[in-house]
Amino acid sequence: MRIPTLASLLVATATLLLVGCSQEAPKLNTPRKEEAAPSVAVRAGNELTPAPAPTAPRAAPVREKLGAGQCRTCHRIQYDSWVKSGHARKALDCEGCHGNGSEYATLEVMKDLARAKRAGLIFQTADFCAKCHPTADDSYLPKAHAHKKR
Ligand code: HEC
Ligand code: HEC
Ligand code: HEC
Repeated sequence: MRIPTLASLLVATATLLLVGCSQEAPKLNTPRKEEAAPSVAVRAGNELTPAPAPTAPRAAPVREKLGAGQCRTCHRIQYDSWVKSGHARKALDCEGCHGNGSEYATLEVMKDLARAKRAGLIFQTADFCAKCHPTADDSYLPKAHAHKKR
């Protein structure tokens, strides 16, 4: 009885395997996973794009506020008109319009207007004034300092 039993077991096993296979027949509308394509594209991209050359970290100049009193030492006329103005009352000071002065407010730099601008000296445009004076245009700029008002 042993041999037939083994044979029937094998037959049964084979049948189970066949049933199992037929149950796991591939579903034709299941999309194939395409994993290869993206990784190839990424690799190609890496090869085509050279790594950026290492650049020495450029220390951004820290431009600190000196306060209007510092500007006053050389710009008394502008200071005296500003200190009585609506801008002073609203704490819009020299550096609020001209930029923080630590890098430009020395005689050596200030004498050279282009250099002073590179060091942070700003001349605002009418857009800036228009934040508070909606009708401001370029003709308004010279009035920023009351001593120049006509
Ligand atoms: C050490 C003196 C000194 C200090 C301090 C100084 N300035 Fe000046 N500044 C000058 C000189 C000199 C010029 C060159 C033009 C001139 O003679 O007015 C100048 C030019 C300028 C100009 C441009 C004028 C133009 O149209 O050519 C502006 C704006 C200005 N300074 C703003 C400031 C502000 C704001 C401060 C304070 C943060 C300041 N300065 C501090 C000496 C100084
Ligand atoms: C509301 C913004 C504003 C403030 C505040 C301000 N400025 Fe000005 N400043 C200007 C503008 C705009 C000009 C250019 C004027 C022009 O086009 O004629 C100017 C011009 C100047 C000039 C060139 C010479 C002149 O008189 O036009 C100097 C110097 C100057 N400012 C210094 C100062 C100092 C010092 C302070 C603070 C005491 C100050 N500014 C505050 C906007 C401002
Ligand atoms: C953060 C807001 C603000 C900005 C930006 C500003 N101003 Fe003013 N300005 C004021 C205030 C507040 C007054 C005072 C108004 C009042 O007293 O009725 C004033 C007043 C003035 C006056 C009247 C005279 C005076 O000083 O009281 C003039 C002219 C003027 N600003 C010009 C300018 C110009 C030019 C700019 C641009 C370079 C400018 N303002 C940018 C707020 C601002």
